[in-house]
Amino acid sequence: MCGIVAYVGPQDAAPVLLEGLQRLEYRGYDSAGVAVVTRSGALKVHKAKLRVAELAASLPARFKGTSGIGHTRWATHGEPNDVNAHPHTDTAERIAVVHNGVIENADELRAALAADGVEFRSQTDTEVLAHLVAQYAERGAGLEEAVRSTLRRVVGTYGIAVVDVSEPGVVVVARNGSPLVLGVGEKEMFVASDVTAFVAYTRQVVHLEDGELAVVRASGYRTFNEEARATHRTPSEVDMEVVEFDTAGHAHFLAKEIHEQPDAVERTLRGRLDRRFATAHLGGLNLGARELREVRRIKILGCGSAYYAGEIGAQLIEDLARMPASSEPASEFRYRNPVIESDTLYIAVSQSGETYDTLAAVKEVKRKGGRVLGVVNSVGSAIARECDGGVYLHAGPEVSVASTKAFTSTIVAFALLALHFGRIQDLSPAAGGRLVEALDALPGQIREILAQEERIAALAAEYASEHAKSGSMMFIGRVRGFPVAREAAQKLKEISYIHAEAYPASELKHGPLALIGPELPTVAVVPDDELFDKNLTTLGEIRTRAGRVLAVAHREIDPALAEHTVVVPKSEPVLDAVLLNIPLQLFAYHAALALGRDVDRPRNLAKSVTVE
Ligand code: G6P
Repeated sequence: MCGIVAYVGPQDAAPVLLEGLQRLEYRGYDSAGVAVVTRSGALKVHKAKLRVAELAASLPARFKGTSGIGHTRWATHGEPNDVNAHPHTDTAERIAVVHNGVIENADELRAALAADGVEFRSQTDTEVLAHLVAQYAERGAGLEEAVRSTLRRVVGTYGIAVVDVSEPGVVVVARNGSPLVLGVGEKEMFVASDVTAFVAYTRQVVHLEDGELAVVRASGYRTFNEEARATHRTPSEVDMEVVEFDTAGHAHFLAKEIHEQPDAVERTLRGRLDRRFATAHLGGLNLGARELREVRRIKILGCGSAYYAGEIGAQLIEDLARMPASSEPASEFRYRNPVIESDTLYIAVSQSGETYDTLAAVKEVKRKGGRVLGVVNSVGSAIARECDGGVYLHAGPEVSVASTKAFTSTIVAFALLALHFGRIQDLSPAAGGRLVEALDALPGQIREILAQEERIAALAAEYASEHAKSGSMMFIGRVRGFPVAREAAQKLKEISYIHAEAYPASELKHGPLALIGPELPTVAVVPDDELFDKNLTTLGEIRTRAGRVLAVAHREIDPALAEHTVVVPKSEPVLDAVLLNIPLQLFAYHAALALGRDVDRPRNLAKSVTVE
């Protein structure tokens, strides 16, 4: 992960770099830094274990330069501290490097450099790059050649940006496995690991491919492949709004994004519901009805919340299209030498469209001749570009690390897909029509749930501070309720640091019931479905052991079985997950607030995991 920015042009580089870093902070935020090369060829570096805003506030006076690089870090090698923060420099402070990715042979390279007398300051893998580039440069290579020679010795993934005091006004960048985009301005150039960093300045972009290197000057850029042959890339226009980095009156981005969900779902649905044929239109699938009828099973791949949303998606597809479907963590899938069958359709799920493991899984499927669709939020992202077609969420940019509106919109996108597949298979027009209406009603129903925030906040504070004395909570649900419980447990863990475990309610008595007692509260997802009575039996078993229960249900649960119930509106049963999930997002948010956590930037995490 980590965010990279670089700038060359007439503007003062540092403010441009810092603004870009602010927009990239979702990629990592344990430290940050910038380096500029002055017109006269001096290198200035400012880096610290600080958030970007604090780094900007502490910038020394006269930190002026017309080219520079910046970085916001998510630690892989070496703890987060001032020294390990990027940029990294060589001993003579001639070269500065920022890096995203992992250098796998860093130890070997370190040993070789140490044998040459190089003394290392940091524990990072990146520092070896700075010393290697410097060694080549000292032997007479220009920056471009020095970077190329260095990368020939490197095994691993990288997006890098490098400056050299001997070549003011030049930044050399390269990518292998970590995203890097050039932004082409008027007599100025930008580079970043994500377009959002510079889209306020230019929409003309060139996405570098793996193995490419670019030499960037204010006047333009030249790109080369691994063999040092020019690749002549022309810019394309990116269709993206400038992300406004304000919380629109909310205390946190997370609160803003939870409250944006009615609008986000409306956008996911916009123009896609077809009442006349009781189906959904999805223009980007690139998959006709005849081809779809040849699909025998669907395999969904994603990480974290995307994987859980995929589990809900698989149930929707099985229910509505009667097609076998399952979801698997993309991170595991690609390492088990999966069998890719020609009649299986793969669907990759990713909010950011950048998650390394998901992207690698997509590439593995495609390498073996499989067909992959994407369910992606970020337009034009690496995963979206790699897929054969797909559905964009249009949920709008998600800034807070914990996914909320993208998770909800992903389920809605899967409902659209399942409806579309179902109507091509055996789903009746009447059933399709009911779903169209139910989907259309979701935004209003989400608003109804959000109106209960005050009560949910009070309950969350009570459970987080009073009841979960064991520092732990149990989440249970069955069939459609189970992935909801899994996502809710994940959300609570991520942002409140309360340990949470999700179990199918039916499995409780096969083990975890041993944990239940007054100090381990349970959140139960209890929809009004065919398993309602069986769920009540489980609640009885918990209450008998003096366990506290908070239920999320379609009606008030008997207080003898659940001390508290949060009631959500009913939808079509296959869409239950969408609405049952919303109060649990609020629960996690307010539990984290009650415990004084940094809800938008939880410790050790980053929004976009672009390393393995
Ligand atoms: C990280 C984030 C999670 C997210 C996952 C997948 O682990 O911390 O919140 O669910 O990545 O992200 P994606 O962008 O692929 O949906």
